[in-house]
Amino acid sequence: MTEILSNKDGEAENPNAVEQMKTGQARRKRLFSAVQPSGTLTLGNYIGAIRNWRMLLDEYDCIYALADLHTLTVRQNPADLRRNTYALAALYIASGIDPEKCVLFVQSHVSAHAELSWILNTITYPGELQRMTQFKDKSRSHADNVNMGLMDYPVLMASDILLYGADLVPVGADQKQHIEITRDLAIRFNGRYSDTFIVPEPYIAKSGAKIMSLQDPSKKMSKSDPNPAAFISMDDSRDTIIKKFRRAVTDSDTTVRYDEEHKPGVSNLLTIYSVITGKSIGEAEAEFCGKMYGEFKTAVGEAVADVVDPIREEKNRILKDKAYLDNVFKNGAESAGRMAKRTLSKVYKRVGLVQAMP
Ligand code: TYM
Repeated sequence: MTEILSNKDGEAENPNAVEQMKTGQARRKRLFSAVQPSGTLTLGNYIGAIRNWRMLLDEYDCIYALADLHTLTVRQNPADLRRNTYALAALYIASGIDPEKCVLFVQSHVSAHAELSWILNTITYPGELQRMTQFKDKSRSHADNVNMGLMDYPVLMASDILLYGADLVPVGADQKQHIEITRDLAIRFNGRYSDTFIVPEPYIAKSGAKIMSLQDPSKKMSKSDPNPAAFISMDDSRDTIIKKFRRAVTDSDTTVRYDEEHKPGVSNLLTIYSVITGKSIGEAEAEFCGKMYGEFKTAVGEAVADVVDPIREEKNRILKDKAYLDNVFKNGAESAGRMAKRTLSKVYKRVGLVQAMP
């Protein structure tokens, strides 16, 4: 039976309302998201996540993390992980995620993430984690290393989001299930111990939330694809990008038309072109009406290279300045740490843990 405890510290039921009462003003909506520093990022990560993060910077209070603890769920080379963490931070900033406009930090720098995971683990059932699509997929692709962390991945992700009272979580479509379990855990905790967590909503863009492989458009574009021609890396040169698009799998028809069911390859390229150029799908179809696939694919490649080239160059420039990145990490950890600690101590109180004297 679920035990419902009273709210002994006399706070209002809605954590959002508590903040509004304290500050006297409505709080801007808060966003949280993260990417794993597990190697080169793909165009899919950029279009599905980072590009949207940048567009939301001015409208929301944004907290963006590098989910380094999550990467440990599959085997990592420690030196590569360190390098990838700096490289991802440089890529965020080069993509327009200005650390002056948001909180940008490394997940492992804020210990509350691991601590809240422990508490949430005590209200999570193995069955609901075993049912997760990503757990099933990764258990197959990493059959020699099906560890507890792999199964517990969504609980750590829920901790990331709930610690900051995020209202919205901008992600690609593949993460929807993880946001759903985050919501379930927040509702379960609130029901058992009184309102503590804001129940977040996924924020999934209408277009570009699932960029497909260039070689097999029935599969998601993924950095772990063994065939490098299947994905565009954010580190690929202009020539490589254009070559990969020219080789992209389409169909035996000749018309550039959006039809996910019958023309998944062409539809994927149209989506990429439309998101990258800001033109609608209809405008893109009209632009390539009567043109050959070769011309269309080259145009998509060039449009993507025009966006990726300056980001890659800026990333490499930022990456040379480790002291700057360390400073960004330090400031981010301080701000994130303060927010996370407040939530964690509220959680500890609610579950009945005796608080240590300051
Ligand atoms: P990761 O690193 O696997 O993916 C990062 C983001 O990229 C999106 N994405 C895509 N979008 C469109 N098309 C694709 N082909 C594509 N491939 C990846 C993902 O949906 C994701 O938004 N578990 C998270 C990291 C994380 C997180 C969090 C996210 C850890 N804690 C808290 C949000 C909130 C992940 O999959 O990362």
